Amino acid sequence: MTTIAATPRSATEPSASQPRPAQPSTNPNKALWEKGDFTRIARTMRESGEALVRAIGVAPGQRVLDLGSGDGTTALPAAQLGADVLGVDIAANLVRAGQARAREAGLANLRFQEGDACALDGLEDASFDLSVSIFGAMFAPRPLDVARELVRVTRRGGRIVMGNWIPNDPTLVAQILKISAAHTPPPPAGFVSPMTWGVEETVLERFAAAGISAGNVAFSRETFTFRYPGAPGAFVEEFRNYYGPTMNAFDAADKNGKALDLREALVELFVRQNLSGRSDLTVIPATFLRVTVSR
Ligand SMILES: C[S@@+](CC[C@H](N)C(=O)[O-])C[C@H]1O[C@@H](n2cnc3c(N)ncnc32)[C@H](O)[C@@H]1O
Repeated sequence: MTTIAATPRSATEPSASQPRPAQPSTNPNKALWEKGDFTRIARTMRESGEALVRAIGVAPGQRVLDLGSGDGTTALPAAQLGADVLGVDIAANLVRAGQARAREAGLANLRFQEGDACALDGLEDASFDLSVSIFGAMFAPRPLDVARELVRVTRRGGRIVMGNWIPNDPTLVAQILKISAAHTPPPPAGFVSPMTWGVEETVLERFAAAGISAGNVAFSRETFTFRYPGAPGAFVEEFRNYYGPTMNAFDAADKNGKALDLREALVELFVRQNLSGRSDLTVIPATFLRVTVSR
């Protein structure tokens, strides 16, 4: 099995056993994801993560990049299928959580490191057979740089697979982000919405700028199912307390006396979309755009 060249850990980089930095990052993209604890949401996404990895066709010995990997919802099952996997994420707390999961699973072929999808410093050209980014790189602020970096690090003949939420889709995540945005102050000038990665023409433009012709980009609409072992209202609390974009929305709503309205809107959404037929289990499917680029 080939080993992927990774950036060496610096002597000053915190390890899993050291406390997390007390100061929030000055990079707003990094600060957003380090603010909460996405592992609390990720644990409700494991089954769909595994199914997606099986559907993509990960093979033993493949060099796989998981960009915006979080704590390994897709990276870990890819390694269990025998691929040599590197998870890269901007959030130091999620990198540490992924490293802990890899250790617990005894997977020497799964590593995680900090990195920014806009500039994959330390990753060599053409070093991956398959680059995956499931609801990850879509959150990076400079999408043209993201497309260029994904193309750069993926070898010719390899593939890039992205999972992106779709703007104005009626299913869960697009609606959470829409309701949250309505309660959050307007973004700074020049901000590009992550949801634009869910628009096919825009995705084609971004990969075209990175040298990929439209004929090498395929789209499909697929479903990711969230499974939370509790009532829909309790699942909303997880988003409120641990999911960066919703935490920011509640911070702003608190200041305007609108936190109750925001909670009500989210609980109504979660209850309406819960397919479990039970009050102690929340099962909610969400539609996403799968983008497959043949390099
Ligand atoms: C919605 S979570 C998805 C995590 C994981 N892919 C999963 O499915 O469980 C978004 C992830 O993207 C990461 N992320 C956001 N911006 C990033 C960037 N510029 N570079 C790398 N990762 C980024 C976040 O830290 C977070 O882990």
